[in-house]
Amino acid sequence: MVISDHDFGQIRDFIYTICGMYFHTSKKYFLESRLARRMEATGITACHDYFLLLKSSRDSKELNLLMDEITTNETYFFRNPSQLSVFETMLLPEVLELKNKMGFRKLRIWSAASSSGEEAYTLAMILLEKRATVLKDWIIEIDGTDINETVIAQAKKGIYNAYSVRNIPDAYRHKYIREANGAFILSPEVKKLVTFNKLNLYEDAKMVFMKSFDFIFCANVLIYFDAASKSKVVQHFYNNLQPYGYFFVGQSESLHGVNDKFRTVHFPGCFGYIK
Ligand SMILES: C[S@@+](CC[C@H](N)C(=O)[O-])C[C@H]1O[C@@H](n2cnc3c(N)ncnc32)[C@H](O)[C@@H]1O
Repeated sequence: MVISDHDFGQIRDFIYTICGMYFHTSKKYFLESRLARRMEATGITACHDYFLLLKSSRDSKELNLLMDEITTNETYFFRNPSQLSVFETMLLPEVLELKNKMGFRKLRIWSAASSSGEEAYTLAMILLEKRATVLKDWIIEIDGTDINETVIAQAKKGIYNAYSVRNIPDAYRHKYIREANGAFILSPEVKKLVTFNKLNLYEDAKMVFMKSFDFIFCANVLIYFDAASKSKVVQHFYNNLQPYGYFFVGQSESLHGVNDKFRTVHFPGCFGYIK
């Protein structure tokens, strides 16, 4: 299927207004192939008719199905080891000590654009290792959110393939993953720490409910946004992070030119952001 430049522009702009993802003309082939799948599934042959269906169904089934097609969901456990090590050995102790002094023994972490949940569950495993010591009697809440309903459903199941689990250190793997018929099944104690929900980071009205996080991780998603949508989304992270909290993006990303309120802090092998 070949889409005219006019139809491509209309659908590209519509997608942008919904979720902030911007498909440059160089990505036309990608979008064409994904649209072709949805048009075939709906039995619609003219691109303009499909566009009208999308527009008439804001927030409804077809739009969600298209989102599921056009998002890139690549992820795996323990994806960013230096960031995780800094989180575990430097920042977590610092934040726990501070909250202990305030008498507030609840830790809130957000894995934004969590895809099928590997990042959120990685954090859960790291925290579980501290359950008997520094996190004894603490309430732990890890929120995983994504716009794609299919990956959210996978995350809730907590069953993975060999690719996803390949980087999990042996000690964690033996303790928290069970293998059965080639599938890697997460233990219930890990699953219990994480809640997954659908959330469009570009939807201001929903973002305001994501309050008071001690840590926010938003890795490998802002690359799909243009400067304006990055800036809008990052402002929400800024607003919803505790004054003493930390914000992290992916290994090859930065907030340079996106947000001038967050301050960069450098750590061994990685950097993060503070207010
Ligand atoms: C490459 S994955 C990143 C997964 C994980 N954070 C990581 O770094 O391994 C990007 C995710 O961003 C999600 N996404 C894209 N646009 C979004 C939006 N507007 N709101 C929420 N999630 C979005 C996609 O559905 C996809 O699952």
